[in-house]
Amino acid sequence: MEVVILKTGAEVGDFAARRISLGAEDGSISVLGVATGSSPLPIYSALRRLRTPAIENLTAFALDEYVGLPKDHPESYHSVIHREVAEPLGLDPEKVHVPDGGAKDLPAACTRFEENIRDAGGVDLQILGIGASGHIGFNEPTSSFASRTRVKTLTAKTRADNARFFESPEEVPLHCVTQGLGTIMAARQIILVAQGKQKAEAVARAIEGPIASMCPGSILQMHPAATVVLDPDAASQLKLTDYYIRTYKNRPSWQR
Ligand code: GLP
Repeated sequence: MEVVILKTGAEVGDFAARRISLGAEDGSISVLGVATGSSPLPIYSALRRLRTPAIENLTAFALDEYVGLPKDHPESYHSVIHREVAEPLGLDPEKVHVPDGGAKDLPAACTRFEENIRDAGGVDLQILGIGASGHIGFNEPTSSFASRTRVKTLTAKTRADNARFFESPEEVPLHCVTQGLGTIMAARQIILVAQGKQKAEAVARAIEGPIASMCPGSILQMHPAATVVLDPDAASQLKLTDYYIRTYKNRPSWQR
C-alpha cells in the first residue's frame, strides 16, 4: 500500500484531486467511484477549484445507499451524491449511479448495479473513506472479502456515528445496500482518505494490522494499486510513519 501523510485535511483533498484530474485528462480515468461522508469532501472542493474540463465527462458510481429512505430525502446518498458531488462538478446526472435502496426487489437491484458497473467497463479509480469500525462503503466488520453489492445490516456504532445527519438516532435506517468488498477490490486504483484522531485506530488496523474481516479496510493490503492519504492525526497510531514519510519524499520522479 502506498501511504502518504500530509500536513492538513485540505492537502489530503488536493493530493487525491490532482491524481483524479490527471487521470481524467490522460484518459486513464473515465469511471470514478465516489463516496459519501465528510472525509472525501476536500477532494470534491479541490476538484471544483481545478476545473479540469475532462471531469464533467466522468461516469460515477456511488458505494452505498440506505434502505428505506426515499430518494429525495436530504440524507439519502442519492441526494448527498447529487448535491455534494455531481452538481458541483458538473457531472451528467444520467451518468451518476447510486444503488437503489428503495427497490421492491433489492437483490435484483443489487445485481443490476453490478451489471451497470461492468457495462461501464469497471471502476478506474475508487475514492474511499473509512468508518471508525474499519468499514469501507457500508461493509461492516465480518463482511465477506468476496462480497458483491448486497443488503447489509448497519451496526449500532455506524448508526450512532451517522445519527448526526438525522433529527433523531431512531431515524437512521437499519439496513443499507452497499458495494461488496469484492466489488470495491475490482476497481483499478483506490484512494482512501482519512482525517482526524477518531480514525487513527481504524487506519492503523487497515494498513498495518492483520488482514481480517473484523477490519474490512484491511483487505486493501491485497490491492495492487491502493493509496491511503492521511493527515497527521489519522496517521498517529501507525508504526512505520518515518518509513512512509521517507518513501514519499524520495518517490521516483515518474510518480510525482
Ligand atoms: C459512512 C459511509 C462510508 C464512509 C463512512 C465514514 O458510513 N457509508 O462510505 O467512509 O461513513 O464517514 P466520514 O468520512 O464522515 O467519517
